Amino acid sequence: MTDVTATTPGASTVGAVTAATDDAMRALGRDLAALSRPGDLLILSGPLGAGKTTLTQGLAEGLGVRGPVTSPTFVISRIHPSLTGGPALVHVDAYRLGGADEIDDIDLDMTLPDSVTVVEWGEGVAEGLSDERLEIRIERHPDDTRTVHLRGVGARWTGTDLPGTGAGRGQRR
Ligand SMILES: Nc1ncnc2c1ncn2[C@@H]1O[C@H](COP(=O)(O)OP(=O)(O)OP(=O)(O)O)[C@@H](O)[C@H]1O
Ligand SMILES: [Mg+2]
Repeated sequence: MTDVTATTPGASTVGAVTAATDDAMRALGRDLAALSRPGDLLILSGPLGAGKTTLTQGLAEGLGVRGPVTSPTFVISRIHPSLTGGPALVHVDAYRLGGADEIDDIDLDMTLPDSVTVVEWGEGVAEGLSDERLEIRIERHPDDTRTVHLRGVGARWTGTDLPGTGAGRGQRR
């Protein structure tokens, strides 16, 4: 278990988790699903092939929403309804969006309060959707392992048992 952890002063909570395989990445997604509530905004960043969609697949499994979660070429936003009476998963791929103006055009604020919203390539684009968000940055290493850096911004995430923080688990295998 690598536990690289700190709770920063102020309103952000940070942690980091090692995901050695794609299965570990999905397991981390399931862990995050267990913490998620309607209204949550998760912003995913990391290079091409980092594992953003893989993490979202685990999140979808954990939330019990209708799949599959994929990365279709021409779809920017897809709603996966819950199969279990919980929140829907709204999965956004902002890769082709020009910026914050264009993300406004897809009306995510309509679904945000009752859903869990995940925005791939959302860094620098999606922050305006909510003052409270979980920023997830995936770092890809040459040996194909990943370090997943988590930063919870706002009171929503204060005191949350985020994976990779002191009380959480630091590694997913
Ligand atoms: N440790 C790991 N964590 C996550 N994915 C891994 C890992 N090791 C290998 N992989 C593989 O890397 C690929 C990650 O692809 P994925 O589509 O999830 O990335 P992405 O960040 O969504 O890419 P894109 O930028 O194209 O949207 C998958 O083929 C997955 O099986
Ligand atoms: Mg993707």
